[in-house]
Amino acid sequence: MPDNRYLLSEREIPKFWYNVVPDLPAPMSPPLHPGTLQPAGPQDLEAIFPHALIEQEVTAAQNIRIPEPVLEVLRMWRPTPLHRALRLEKALGTPAKIFFKNEGVSPAGSHKPNTAIAQAYYNKAAGIKRLTTETGAGQWGSALALACNVFGMECMVYMVKCSFYQKPHRRTMMECWGAKCVPSPSDLTQAGRKILAEDPETPGSLGIAISEAVEDAVTHQDTNYSLGSVLNHVLLHQTVIGQEALAQMKLAGASPDIVIGCCGGGSNFAGLAFPFVPEKAAGKNLRLIAVEPAACPTMTKGIYAYDFGDKSGMTPLLKMDTLGHDFIPPGIHAGGLRYHGMAPLVSLLHREGVVEAVSYPQLKCFEAALTFARAEGLIVAPETSHAVCCAVDEALKAKEEGKEKTILFNLSGHGHFDMAAYEKYFAGELSDYEYPEAKIREALAHLPKAS
Ligand SMILES: Cc1ncc(COP(=O)(O)O)c(C=O)c1O
Repeated sequence: MPDNRYLLSEREIPKFWYNVVPDLPAPMSPPLHPGTLQPAGPQDLEAIFPHALIEQEVTAAQNIRIPEPVLEVLRMWRPTPLHRALRLEKALGTPAKIFFKNEGVSPAGSHKPNTAIAQAYYNKAAGIKRLTTETGAGQWGSALALACNVFGMECMVYMVKCSFYQKPHRRTMMECWGAKCVPSPSDLTQAGRKILAEDPETPGSLGIAISEAVEDAVTHQDTNYSLGSVLNHVLLHQTVIGQEALAQMKLAGASPDIVIGCCGGGSNFAGLAFPFVPEKAAGKNLRLIAVEPAACPTMTKGIYAYDFGDKSGMTPLLKMDTLGHDFIPPGIHAGGLRYHGMAPLVSLLHREGVVEAVSYPQLKCFEAALTFARAEGLIVAPETSHAVCCAVDEALKAKEEGKEKTILFNLSGHGHFDMAAYEKYFAGELSDYEYPEAKIREALAHLPKAS
């Protein structure tokens, strides 16, 4: 009987972050200044980020040493377990081997603390006393609240309004760690007030919440802004996941044919998949699949262009897969996947054919999450259900084709704060949102003229 779990000791936490930049098949396009539309220099980011993180944003070094104080905190829950989903395999009757990395065991319940701890550490070292951020599902806000608490900093979280009311206990969780959390758009910022005046009933979006958090940071001297996904340094910090998975797959005597992660801004997918890029570049037949919601199909229906990271056009422009910064996704329960853009690194690898993208509607994802919960016992976050859904689909395809595929996916977060969503699913009150083509077309018409 194969093992259910493959574990590493605390001494085996990766000591370096893996930077995919030297392994890219094409050069990255530089971020552009939102005012001049010229390449943005490090000085343009200094108003909201500490120097060390800006350096990581632009570095071409392959390996970056993880500071000891960061490792010390990561040891609270890392290395995370790699599971073999033996019961799911049996339930599906598939010849495929299914493995998953469990990031839901972190104190905040997802992969997000991997970067929150690093970001809080570098900001604290630079003398910053307070961090602001946005959060969709509340996972990132919780992670930053935890990290600020660890390093004795204040934390201010703008939470997308529809998620704020869908998940009231996420806010309480942030407050347990001493953070403040308000629904976005709020009346605390100019950006928020403007949007509320235009549409008081708006469900909010990550793009709006980012505008509020950035405005708060640039208008307070002791305050910096912290982003939970999308940027190169955030993806870098998540690569501990894939590096551990590589070592654990060796322990299991297996090697994946398919690596799967759900995609909001791309950091969870990148964290697992990027450390496998060198194997793929060396010729291994390996599929890296990024999964997104059909209601917010950034990679599968968006275009590759320069766009703002936020709704109000305050951030630098990034070359990325985007639905347009004006696009407000429907209020699906996978709040962490409701972002109009995609990490430039993931977008580039997608456009170069290294990464595949697929999208799934929410009902099919909930169905897969329940199949998984009833087989493996673990109840996943609605975001994670997209990765589960893809893993189940690939395992069933392997069954149809009679092939012994090895599938690895990232269980990016548990769903213990998402019972209202599951409740609605059971009551038949959840629906699939149509792909909002007209809205996306409208948003794409407002792309900045920089491409
Ligand atoms: C549980 C969970 N999984 C995945 C994601 C998407 O993360 P990323 O932005 O890293 O793609 C989120 C975002 O909040 C999340 O909460």
